[in-house]
Amino acid sequence: MTLATAPGKLILCGEHAVVYGRPAIALPLSGVRARASVDPGPPGSGIRLHAPALGRSWSLAEAPDDPFSELVAALVARCSPACAPDFEVVITSDIPIASGMGSGAAIATALVRAVAGHLGAELSAAEISALVYGSERRFHGTPSGIDNTVVAFERAVWFVRTKNRERENSEPENRERENSEPENRGRENREPGEQGGSGFSLLGSATVEPVAIGAPLTLLIGDSGVRSETRLPVGEVRRRWAAEPARYEALFDAVGAVVARVRAALASGDRAELGRLLDENQALLQEIGVSSPELDRLVAAARGAGALGAKLSGAGWGGVMIALVDDERREAVRAALLEAGAARVLETVVA
Ligand code: PMV
Repeated sequence: MTLATAPGKLILCGEHAVVYGRPAIALPLSGVRARASVDPGPPGSGIRLHAPALGRSWSLAEAPDDPFSELVAALVARCSPACAPDFEVVITSDIPIASGMGSGAAIATALVRAVAGHLGAELSAAEISALVYGSERRFHGTPSGIDNTVVAFERAVWFVRTKNRERENSEPENRERENSEPENRGRENREPGEQGGSGFSLLGSATVEPVAIGAPLTLLIGDSGVRSETRLPVGEVRRRWAAEPARYEALFDAVGAVVARVRAALASGDRAELGRLLDENQALLQEIGVSSPELDRLVAAARGAGALGAKLSGAGWGGVMIALVDDERREAVRAALLEAGAARVLETVVA
């Protein structure tokens, strides 16, 4: 049996604006993971995938257009004709789906790692990220690429898309074309650090840089219990941006400025400043229109119980929020989140 795993993720700041070329910072959530295992099957049995948590079980032959089937088919196609494609894959995950914790990217990454391992293919993290980006596009339409990047590399990243923003935002189909252009595919295969030799890299059509963390930070993650598919708020933001471009460009600029200050606060370990910035980002996300009454209630409860700052994380309208806490207030904030209706509270230390 070949087993592989991949972490969940959190967007610390910059969601939505990142789709429009502004920076965002994302963190891996190593404590919650997706897993995929591959067992060889009898000759001629073909390839089967099982996802018990989703209540799904299917064969590649029956569902070739499924995004996970396509990932597996792409890996098999890279393999020499000698490798027999008869195997079964079982996918499981601790990460709640449609919650903002990167479950789709984590499942796809675990799947790619396990199938590649089974087939004896050695893939770099950049190659895995690029493959997973393709499946994210199938689920979300116009993902920025931040989820697949932070999950495949499993480290905190500063992420900026670098393509021609105006053109791609007005014509989503251009992005499909550009992403499949040979020069972009080549760039996707570069390892971080290869560009410029200073920890700075271009990954696909994005700039990806490591994030310095000056002092450990504790985040509580409050799950609103409301499931919301990423593509819904992302699509609504696109419609609003198209209707009021100047207003939305200004909001995205303001988010980008907050994210730059977050990076500096992370590097210097300034928790109080970081908390204020998370609050500022939340106010902008509310104006962008992606918060929700449930998320607002959890954010207010966390702040009321002494969190240094709090905001939604991910696409919004549901899913999770994060609260920055110090040791003295951590348990009070956790209790306040549960009291305010959080379906669960997770904790992560960013170090
Ligand atoms: O809810 P999630 O984890 O899928 O977050 C999506 C983040 C967005 O910025 C809203 C979209 C994107 O592709 O970056």
